[in-house]
Amino acid sequence: MEKREELYSGKAKSVFKTDDADRYILVFRDDTSAFDGKKISQLDRKGAVNNQFNAFVMQKLEAAGIPTHFESLLSPCEALVKRLDMMPIECVVRNVAAGSICRRLGIEEGITLKKPTFELFLKNDDLGDPMINEYHIDAFDWADLDAVAKSRELTFAVNDVLTPWFAEHGMILVDYKLEFGVVDGKVVLGDEFTPDGCRIWDSETRAKLDKDRFRQDLGDVIESYELVGRRLGMTFEY
Ligand code: TMP
Ligand code: ASP
Repeated sequence: MEKREELYSGKAKSVFKTDDADRYILVFRDDTSAFDGKKISQLDRKGAVNNQFNAFVMQKLEAAGIPTHFESLLSPCEALVKRLDMMPIECVVRNVAAGSICRRLGIEEGITLKKPTFELFLKNDDLGDPMINEYHIDAFDWADLDAVAKSRELTFAVNDVLTPWFAEHGMILVDYKLEFGVVDGKVVLGDEFTPDGCRIWDSETRAKLDKDRFRQDLGDVIESYELVGRRLGMTFEY
């Protein structure tokens, strides 16, 4: 697979074309951002850890029947993926209250929800990723509503796979964000699943093991990502 020109560079990953029009290469960089790009830093080993973390989780989801864009690991920081037409939408599931839902609704952090919630956000840093609903998506033609419905179904299916898996390994999957795209009319999980886009707490101590360590300056950010990965059975190469 030949790596060609860079197509797009996001806050933490870059996307490269390849000699196959239907495949891209994702490069996970050490750049780390939070608060819609307002807080930025470089964290040693982050690109490698997140690339390999993502590969492990995507393979777990594929094995459970959830279609993903992941194809193969190419190097510590690079993965081959299918080209998707991405929807500019973020799908968030919450099992336990944390982050924006606490601020928005005055909910105490750490309360276990009676059932998981599903929220949609528009992917737009300048606007601070505002919360939206299906009516906005339809009115502004941001995506096909059937594809959004399928994304919601897959987002909950991911919860059914990952929540018990994290629990078996002594961790609570508090919440997470997923992004979907379409290829050949099929809705497929794209982007990444890493501790950058979810909240993971230790089941016993409730210690934060995800990007909140970076957001809240708690230290040991990548060490915590590695700990989560090792608990789930990952080994990392650098
Ligand atoms: P929130 O509490 O800030 O709404 O985020 C909920 C979860 O989704 C949390 O694990 C972080 C993740 N998330 C992102 O990674 N990027 C985003 O742009 C948004 C809105 C959420
Ligand atoms: N991932 C988003 C950003 O980098 C949201 C966040 O992590 O706060 O801005």
